[in-house]
Amino acid sequence: MQEKIKELYESASSSIAQVSDLKQLDEIRVAYLGKSGSVTGLLKGMRDVAPEDRPKVGQLVNDLRVSIGNALTEKEEQLKAIEMKSALISESVDITMPAKSSEMGSLHPINLVRNELIEAFAGMGFEIYEGPEIELDEYNFRLLNIPKDHPARDMQDTLYITENILLRTQTSSGQARVMQAKNPPLKILSPGKVYRADDDATHSPMFHQMEGLVVDKNITLCDLKGTLEAFLKKMFKGDLKTRLRPSYFPFTEPSVEVDVTCFECKGKGCHLCKGTGWIEVLGAGIVNRRVLENCNIDPDEYQGFAFGIGLERIAMLKYGIPDIRLFFENDVRFLKQFK
Ligand code: PHE
Repeated sequence: MQEKIKELYESASSSIAQVSDLKQLDEIRVAYLGKSGSVTGLLKGMRDVAPEDRPKVGQLVNDLRVSIGNALTEKEEQLKAIEMKSALISESVDITMPAKSSEMGSLHPINLVRNELIEAFAGMGFEIYEGPEIELDEYNFRLLNIPKDHPARDMQDTLYITENILLRTQTSSGQARVMQAKNPPLKILSPGKVYRADDDATHSPMFHQMEGLVVDKNITLCDLKGTLEAFLKKMFKGDLKTRLRPSYFPFTEPSVEVDVTCFECKGKGCHLCKGTGWIEVLGAGIVNRRVLENCNIDPDEYQGFAFGIGLERIAMLKYGIPDIRLFFENDVRFLKQFK
C-alpha cells in the first residue's frame, strides 16, 4: 500500500510538472482526486488493509490527497500568472503609436463670411431677422418705393412665381417687414439667399446678401459712415480707408456705394481694383422717407440708414476667388481649403 501511495505521488507530481495549461491541469485533478480518481480509489481499497494498520494508512492516503491538492494549486497559480503575463504582452496598447485621425468637415466659405460679418456687427446691438425667400411683390418692391412699371425694376432680373409672388431679389424685402411689425428704434441685420435671373462668372441666379437697417431719432449719413467704417475695419483688418460715392436706390435717399482701399495693392492701383485703388463692397443710404411712410413710421420723427452686402462678393475679394460658380459646384477640393 505504501508503495502504491509513493508511486501515485510520483506520477501525479510528474504529470503536474509537465502540464502547460489550466485545462490539462483540471484533467489531472479529476484523474487523481475526482470521484473515480486514483486517490479516491485508494480509500476504497482500505477494506483490504489490516484493521490495526488502517489509521496509519488512512493518514498516509490523506497526506497524499493534501500534497497532490497543494501541488495542483501551486501549479494553477503559476499557470494563471503566465497566462496573465502573455495577455498583458499581446493585448497591450502602444501609446506612442500615432492616433487614427478622423476627417473633420469645414464650413462653406459663404457661411464663414456670414459668421464673420455677424461677428463684426455683434456688440453694436444688431438683432438678426430672417425673412422669407418666397416673397410678395409688396415687400420686395412696392413698399420699397418701387411701384409696378418703375424703371428701377429693370436693375434686378426678377424670377416671378405669379404676378404678385416672386423669389426675393434682395434682402431689403425684410426692411419693410420689420418696420411694419416693430416700432423704432430698430437695429436689424438680415442675412439670406436672394435670386435673380443672371448667370456668369460674377453673377449667380442664387446668391447671399446681408441687409442692415437702423431706424431711430436723429440718424444721419454720419451714423451710416461710422457704423460701416467700424465694421469694415474689423472685417478686412489693417488700416484701410473707406469712401462713399453717390449712387441710386429707390428706397434710400441719398444713396451711396461704399468703397474700401484695395487690399491687394493698398490703394496704388492693380488688376483687382482695375487700377482705381478702390474696391466697391456694398450699397447703402438713408432710408427714403416714402419707405418710412409706407411702413407707418413718421419720417419727421424718425430717420434710418440701410445697407446691403453681397456675401459672395466679399468672399471672392477676401479669398481671391475668380468665379462665383465655384461656391456652388461643391467640389470638396475647393471647399476644404477654407478652415
Ligand atoms: N438691395 C440693394 C441691392 O440689392 C442693396 C442696398 C440695400 C442698397 C440697402 C441700399 C440699402 O442692390
